[in-house]
Amino acid sequence: PTDSLIDGFGRRITYLRLSVTDRCDFRCVYCMAEEMTFLPRAQLCTLEELASIGKAFIDLGVERIRITGGEPLIRRDVIHLFESLGSHLGQSALQELTLTTNGSRLTTYAQSLADAGVKRINVSLDSLQPDRFRALTRIGDLDTVLKGITAAQNAGIERIKLNAVILKNRNSDEVQDLVQFALENGLDISFIEEMPLGSISEHSRKEEFLSSEALRERIGERFDLSPIGVQTGGPSRYWGISGSNSRIGFISPHSENFCGSCNRVRVSAEGKLLLCLGNDHSADLKAIQRNHPGEPERLKSAIINAMSIKPERHHFSLSDDEPQVVRFMNATGG
Ligand code: GTP
Ligand code: 5AD
Ligand code: SF4
Repeated sequence: PTDSLIDGFGRRITYLRLSVTDRCDFRCVYCMAEEMTFLPRAQLCTLEELASIGKAFIDLGVERIRITGGEPLIRRDVIHLFESLGSHLGQSALQELTLTTNGSRLTTYAQSLADAGVKRINVSLDSLQPDRFRALTRIGDLDTVLKGITAAQNAGIERIKLNAVILKNRNSDEVQDLVQFALENGLDISFIEEMPLGSISEHSRKEEFLSSEALRERIGERFDLSPIGVQTGGPSRYWGISGSNSRIGFISPHSENFCGSCNRVRVSAEGKLLLCLGNDHSADLKAIQRNHPGEPERLKSAIINAMSIKPERHHFSLSDDEPQVVRFMNATGG
């Protein structure tokens, strides 16, 4: 049927990650090289183009849209995109509009996000130590992010998940403290194994690797962890802690491949439909939208046709040789 997206492996695609910019006001060491060049503005989709692309996916049965970046909240007027997409909530297949952010601008935008219908957000937070937070993000300020999280809670955003990329020699000693922080503040938290996107020289991905299993062991020393069957539509596998509502998630691209149940595709800020985070297969949606603006059917056919080139899985390796995906995470949209 034309109203649903199914790939060549029989997986239903119901989740779109829509990137609005490749720029960021942080420079996290695992995400970007120190010197980065960003897309020239003319190459970016306009917010209207992104809204049309989002709408095409909604018409094709997509139930969740997550806005990503770069840092989405540094794109000027991005709230208009949230409002535009948010207007389809409950009026279409779309059930959820979410955001992944570094938290630097949440004090300004939390209320408008909540008003646009955003009920769940993910905030990257790799350390609770100001110096270390600065070192990992190269520029970020911990206190600003913590205030942003509080602002989001006060604005009524219902579930806030922290994302922590754990590097063995940089922040793995904070895993228990991060869990404690999440519990105390009524937050969820996911621990992420670093993925090899783009070439970095600052650390060895192999030497920094610590499996989710090892993290659970550490967390288990202080907390009573047990698996829970919750699924939020992403790759996190969740565990609970008795006596608490917080979910402790693990995103384990290396140690527990989750591609078999993949339900998602991405659109980059330049309007490329990326069919897998770990592969280059893509389709140029911006060209279609720009050349044929009033013809949503063309966009929809292109999306449907692209389903057949969605790869089965990523093949991330832990070797420090050149990564097979040269795109950095900020250019991919997480
Ligand atoms: P929900 O489960 O919807 O709350 O979100 P999430 O945890 O999937 O999304 P988030 O944007 O917070 O991303 C967390 C991490 O998961 C990031 O490092 C993403 O790059 C990674 N991720 C999300 N989707 C995929 C995927 O399809 N494949 C891989 N390998 N990683 C993914
Ligand atoms: N591996 C794993 N996660 C990454 N992120 C950015 N780069 C990487 C990487 N190489 C995370 C960020 C953010 C999310 C969108 O992706 O920390 O939480
Ligand atoms: Fe920015 Fe997020 Fe990348 Fe950090 S991980 S540099 S906050 S896009």
